[in-house]
Formats: sequence, C-alpha cells, structure tokens
Amino acid sequence: MPHVIAWDANRADPLIDAELDRARAFFGADGEGASALLPVLHAMQHHFGFVWPEAVPHIAHRLNLSKADVRGVLSFYHDFPETPPGRHVLKLCRAEACQSVGSERVAAHLAAAHTLTPGATAHGVTLQNVYCLGNCALGPAAMIDEQLLSGFDELTADLWMSRLQDGAP
Ligand code: FES
Repeated sequence: MPHVIAWDANRADPLIDAELDRARAFFGADGEGASALLPVLHAMQHHFGFVWPEAVPHIAHRLNLSKADVRGVLSFYHDFPETPPGRHVLKLCRAEACQSVGSERVAAHLAAAHTLTPGATAHGVTLQNVYCLGNCALGPAAMIDEQLLSGFDELTADLWMSRLQDGAP
C-alpha cells in the first residue's frame, strides 16, 4: 500500500544533500544540479510517496535549476504521477510483449468498466503505465503495490479491482 506523507522541506534537505554529494563525487562541481535532479526526484518519491508541487521550487532552488527544468523532468517520466497515489497502485505493462497478449485490451477495459485511466485514481486505485516488469513471458504483466502478477487479463483485473475496493491489503 503506498504511503504518502506531507511535504516537509526540513525532511527533504538531507535527502537532497545526499544526492548532491553523490553527483559531485561522479561529475565534479560543474554539472552537479542537473546530474542530481533525477536521483533527487526519486528520493522525494520514495520518501514522501509523491513529489508534491511544493517540492518543485525548493528542489529548483537547491539544485540551482529553474522550476521549468524540474517540471520538465517530472512530466517526462511515467514514474512521477501528477496527483498523490490512491491506497493501491496498479502498474500495467504496456510494452510490446505484453501488448501482444492483450495489455491494451486490459487498459481499455479498466477505463470502460472501472473509470480507471493511466495516471489517474479511481476507487482508491491509481493506474500507472510501465514499460516492462521483467515478466514478459507471462503477460499481460502487472504489479499491484509490490506484488508482481502474470496473465493479468480483463477477468483478473475485475477480480483485483473488486478485492482492492473491498479493502484487501
Ligand atoms: S513486456 Fe511486459 S513484462 Fe516485459
């Protein structure tokens, strides 16, 4: 179950400092801000469960980047949702091997039957597109919170949505 906590700059700063130190060790002082940006965003996501909008100007300031730089990276990567996640996160593989065995049908079914679209949250479940979960031979592959699932077809999706809405862990 995703754990989301409120933005707190005082808790964020040691994480930012650690990534800046790592970037300096690899790249020297010149490229430290840009080099640290992606690791910093992952650290924020991991620690807070979500990159809060309030984090953007703070990170930009600390890394000596523009807010547009930070927002650009946030919007480019699927790992960073635009809204806080629901109680559960469903990652559906949309890469080629899973497409070939029906992941696009599953995505369409989730939208039609459960009003659940990529990047959005419905019924306490957030849907994220991912591009390979390392389970290509057993697709369509999905991951619910930390649990990897195989053969995630429309029926399986219905069963899981029902289970998650009923409060299953
Ligand atoms: S392509 Fe879906 S798990 Fe690899």
